[in-house]
Amino acid sequence: MLDIYRLGDEVLYAPTVKVTKFDGALRMLVDAMFETMDEADGVGLAGPQVGVSQRLFVVDDRQGNRMCFINPEIIGTGVEMGPYEEGCLSLPGVYHTVIRPLEVTVQAQDVNGKAFTVNASGLLARIIQHENDHLHEKLFIDRLSPEDREMMVRVYERRNKTKRRKGK
Ligand code: NI
Repeated sequence: MLDIYRLGDEVLYAPTVKVTKFDGALRMLVDAMFETMDEADGVGLAGPQVGVSQRLFVVDDRQGNRMCFINPEIIGTGVEMGPYEEGCLSLPGVYHTVIRPLEVTVQAQDVNGKAFTVNASGLLARIIQHENDHLHEKLFIDRLSPEDREMMVRVYERRNKTKRRKGK
């Protein structure tokens, strides 16, 4: 299990670099990320969230798409936009509707370095965009209006304070 970094941890806003070595260490990292995502009951987890400033994320949309994206690039987006209530393992307890394109085409490499392209819609398209944002110093709350973002930060802080008090 890896530690999941949360809002306030600088690594979430650190620039990421491309993955260049497709070796055993990468495979171990990806396995650990899948395990950590499952344990946290998440549908996606990106490198920066586990303190790794590299371009990779894992996804499980629970509809059969369990995949790892390394060095992903969104190369196309559908014109149609839509709302979806997003959450994030780095902001437990915080949910807000985000408007994004409903379809994306993403190019990436698998854990062996093999290139692939996916045309995604539905939940998979949503997760890919959310996780890809993590690789570009962006959390879903950064896509909200300044007022809504501030409100979500307050919700997060309030929740965490309560948690800490309970833990004593
Ligand atoms: Ni997230």
